[in-house]
Amino acid sequence: MKLIYVFTRGVRKGRLKMQNSGAVVTPWEVKGEVDYDELIRQFGVEPLDRLMIERLGRHAGGLHVLLRRGMFFSHREFGDWMKSYEEGVRVALYTGRGPSGNTHLGHLIPWIFTKYLQDAFKADLFFQMTDDEKFLFNPELSIEDINKFTEENLLDIIAVGFDPKRTKIFADLSYTKKLYNIAVRVAKHVTFSTARATFGFSESSNIGMVFFPAMQAAPCFLPQYIDGKDTHVLIPCAIDQEPYWRISRDVAPKLGYRKPAGIYSKFIPGLGAGGKMSASMPETAIFLSDTECEAIKKVKNAFTGGQPTIREQKEKGGNPDVCVIYSYLYSLFEESDAEVAETYKSCKSGGKTCGECKESLAKKVAAFLKEHHRRREKAKDCVQDFLLRE
Ligand code: TRP
Repeated sequence: MKLIYVFTRGVRKGRLKMQNSGAVVTPWEVKGEVDYDELIRQFGVEPLDRLMIERLGRHAGGLHVLLRRGMFFSHREFGDWMKSYEEGVRVALYTGRGPSGNTHLGHLIPWIFTKYLQDAFKADLFFQMTDDEKFLFNPELSIEDINKFTEENLLDIIAVGFDPKRTKIFADLSYTKKLYNIAVRVAKHVTFSTARATFGFSESSNIGMVFFPAMQAAPCFLPQYIDGKDTHVLIPCAIDQEPYWRISRDVAPKLGYRKPAGIYSKFIPGLGAGGKMSASMPETAIFLSDTECEAIKKVKNAFTGGQPTIREQKEKGGNPDVCVIYSYLYSLFEESDAEVAETYKSCKSGGKTCGECKESLAKKVAAFLKEHHRRREKAKDCVQDFLLRE
């Protein structure tokens, strides 16, 4: 059994806890097979239960596939946030992107879900691009590199289809005045000891890194800071960002703001055996900049739960539970419940080969990319409509 670090509630007491769930989950690193039930306990968040999902479905007029199939799996006070909405309190959404490279499918998952929430609740979305974070945390990246990624990533974000009238995208290094004003107020309430315990900073961390969590906390309070109106913010994001919200929630009442609620996703696996999709392993990640051909090739080379030969597959059947192809169909790409159930059954019984499943996923991924590329081209003409100005 591998020993790993997970930042848990216990670390608030000033030490990093060693866990042995076989995975590492921090805002900067996600490695290994994540046990999500364990993560729920460690992060002290709530599982997204059926009642909560149905309540959201009633507001949204339907259940998104990411919700039905458990990709979004946990939350913090999401019920309270919906209650605010039901009672007429202004609600807003906040999510973000650290522009450290090209965008891949894994990054897109929380954004697709955020769009679904924006449409359902007619909410303003505040979208932070943490160019400062990626500069401070990556010794090898220059400001020029980051600026290039910010510009490129911005198009992928817009291509998701957010409502231009309700979406405000900003990068920390440009939209600085208000953010910094909020961040210093946050920072005053966070000791070095808490920051170190929550994020694992050390003597050799640069001082920008230590301040940065205040910059990521700031947008939790931005909607209200801008016009003074009471606002309940919900953060849809991948679960690894949770440590930031712990700090934000601790500080909120001290600054006279509501605590932000959160709704959290799992990580999409990479196309190889084990681990999440990661830009550092390009052959196992589907980048939004990949051509359709490149993506199809990656899908065809992916790890499956199949037997080594077709004969064995027919005799013994495959194992969809460990199959990356199946998990992509299940989590995102196959909307039909009947179809996904049929694929599961016929894989297990040996009726379906890996080739067939790969073919089916490859087609869906290619169609998805084609549409994304089209929208990304269009996005170039309307960047200004989305940018938040001082
Ligand atoms: N730190 C995130 C990253 O590295 C970017 C980010 C900033 C973010 N604010 C956020 C992500 C809010 C989710 C929600 O990608």
